[in-house]
Amino acid sequence: MVSVPVVLDCDPGHDDAFAIWLAAGDPNIDLLGITTVGGNGHLEHTTHNARVVCTVGGIHGVPIAAGADSPLVRRLTVADDIHGASALDGPVLPEPEVDLDPRGAIELLRELITGSPEPVTVLATGPLTNIALLVRTHPDVLRNVREVVWMGGSTGRGNVTPYAEFNSWVDPEALSVVLGAQVPFTMVGLNITHQALVTAEVLDRIAAIGNRTSEFAAQLLKFFCASYNTAEGMPAAPLHDPVAVAMVAVPEVVASVRARLDVELRGTETAGATSVDLHDKLGREQNATVAITLDVARFWDMVENAIRAMR
Ligand code: RIB
Ligand code: CA
Repeated sequence: MVSVPVVLDCDPGHDDAFAIWLAAGDPNIDLLGITTVGGNGHLEHTTHNARVVCTVGGIHGVPIAAGADSPLVRRLTVADDIHGASALDGPVLPEPEVDLDPRGAIELLRELITGSPEPVTVLATGPLTNIALLVRTHPDVLRNVREVVWMGGSTGRGNVTPYAEFNSWVDPEALSVVLGAQVPFTMVGLNITHQALVTAEVLDRIAAIGNRTSEFAAQLLKFFCASYNTAEGMPAAPLHDPVAVAMVAVPEVVASVRARLDVELRGTETAGATSVDLHDKLGREQNATVAITLDVARFWDMVENAIRAMR
């Protein structure tokens, strides 16, 4: 089996934690490195949390570097209503056993991508600030990027405003920069991640794995579901980020379409909204693959198997 080389840019974040474990645990993925960005929490929290998640999972030898602490032009608003003050509330967080790579996110991404013998998939599960900065400062890197696969946006309604999904809303200018870079781009939006619901059965299934990671994961899920229930009246929370990872690991786990994707930058009420032209109303070039349908059973099998592979 040939595994896909991947770099993961994330803002842990409860669902980002599962993205890290799936990227590290799935045999179809070769996780080259992890970079962090301000999003669900402030950068010091998302970075600390990435180190904690790797510590819990027993993930060693994967460099972790910190990136942008704020969006390209806007002020950062974190999602503490969902993820809590630490951005990983719920379980007691152990002291990290993995160090922070001193290179910083942009330099680490540049080195890992240019140094890979095979084109690298850039997986992003937070605001696209780091990826936009990489594109702007080292555009030559894109020659060895297979595609950018991003959890963000939505073909329908938003989750932080009526029309904008959080990762897009935090830094819509970054999304616009990455879309403008003409690199193959896949959007894994709320329309599909809301098919990955943490039901009571899913929670019991993860908890029953019985290793250290599953115990930690179950506590994360309980907090995440309680937050979603309070914030959105959804007791079964959507586990957004690992859906993007699953699509890279096993492309057939998702059905997708080609479409025109644009992002609203100036709307008073719609800034960050992703305009997905599913029916080619605008006659513009189709610049994105848009994930539509999830093989839910296979997805949870993949998540369970990855957590089973952790410590
Ligand atoms: O809107 C959901 C996305 O925003 C997820 O990636 C979540 O972790 C937050 O970053
Ligand atoms: Ca995220």
